[in-house]
Amino acid sequence: MSKALDGVRILDFTHVQSGPTCTQLLAWFGADVIKVERAGEGDATRGQLRDIPNVDSLYFTMLNHNKRSITLNTKKPKGMEVLNRLIKECDVLVENFAPGALDRMGITWEHIQSINPRMIVASVKGFGPGPYEDCKVYENVAQCAGGSASTSGFDDGPPMVTGAQIGDSGTGLHLALGIVAALYQRNSTGRGQKVLAPMQDAVLNLCRVKLRDQQRLERTHTLHEYPQYPDGKFGDAVPRAGNSSGGGQPGSILKCKGWETDPNAYIYFITQGAVWPEVCKVIGQEDWLTDEAFATPSARLLHLKPIFARIEQWTMTKTKFEAMEILNQHDIPCGPILSMKEIAEDASLRATGTIVEVDHPTRGKYLSVGNPIKMSDSPTEVTRAPLLGEHTEEVLGQLGFSAEQVAQLRAESVI
Ligand code: COA
Repeated sequence: MSKALDGVRILDFTHVQSGPTCTQLLAWFGADVIKVERAGEGDATRGQLRDIPNVDSLYFTMLNHNKRSITLNTKKPKGMEVLNRLIKECDVLVENFAPGALDRMGITWEHIQSINPRMIVASVKGFGPGPYEDCKVYENVAQCAGGSASTSGFDDGPPMVTGAQIGDSGTGLHLALGIVAALYQRNSTGRGQKVLAPMQDAVLNLCRVKLRDQQRLERTHTLHEYPQYPDGKFGDAVPRAGNSSGGGQPGSILKCKGWETDPNAYIYFITQGAVWPEVCKVIGQEDWLTDEAFATPSARLLHLKPIFARIEQWTMTKTKFEAMEILNQHDIPCGPILSMKEIAEDASLRATGTIVEVDHPTRGKYLSVGNPIKMSDSPTEVTRAPLLGEHTEEVLGQLGFSAEQVAQLRAESVI
């Protein structure tokens, strides 16, 4: 079956996480992704957080599926010649080097335009134009600068970063969307364009609801669904909301049976207004239906702590899965706190290809996260990440280099 991005060639100059996430998605949609790496070392993540000596790390292999790898030293004139050929042949150049690195290599926008005016040049940077535009940035810096850390964690603790890689993988997702939109626009304009996804901006986009709350706070000086209400104080900035719901339906994480020994024996419980009678019925507190203090959503906002404490008395008598089964019968929105171990073993995630087992020549079998986006006419088959330079000969051959020329480039350490 054909793929959505069949025929699209990506010159993949990405490394670490943010850029590779983007190009991996494009590869899963069918693009031919040629990853350019430095000979000898390659993407630094190949060697980071290794669990098997001298074998490409899971960090690398889980972010670079379905790509081809070539080695090329672009700081050598002959390396630049090869790169220019690639620029001519490809549709998109994706990069996430430190600010200015591409220009220092001589690969300016003007240079690319002069070779291939149809090329889309897509970049991840830590920040957009402004005081920090020249800074190098990693995940947690973006989480902090994008508003996530100041609004995560508990009121009495420091700002907190989250395990979801919203700065890296989140920005990669944004960039992929920009690239696909630019490819679409090119159909009518015939021109390429620059696409920039700054990590701070991507995190802020994902923290949109917190900027919403900032403005609500400035107008009304309080946020009724936050744990600080009604007893605590609000300052002039959105506070950390603990595990409260970010929306109009109050929610909380509650203990389940076994919480004393299992750190993940918890459930997320949402007291959606529409099913409040069901909530009261399930926990055996039907008197709340007529009690003025609990009967309406606005009245309940004054009593969220005792409400969740009472519901927790009930959830603590059930495992998280037993609670899920009962609550789902009543359409009460809830979710188990799943450990990574439970997720790795989840049969339905494996059946849909979101958790996949991949075979690798030096690592053997490992688990990875497949394409989370499912398309009926463009299915994804996850293939392993390439070894360093595995496709150098193949790609150079396709570019028209003879075997002798390739051998010469290798002898001169260009590839
Ligand atoms: N041949 C020759 N040189 C190469 C090369 C190749 N194939 N590929 C990369 N290089 C060079 C670059 O030209 C650059 O050299 P320069 O500093 O002399 O200009 C250097 O290798 C690597 O650049 P840099 O991006 O600075 O790497 P770093 O390891 O120092 O920094 C980051 C890593 C992630 C902090 C930085 O790349 C960055 O801020 N990126 C943008 C934001 C981002 O994506 N962050 C998230 C990463 S998950």
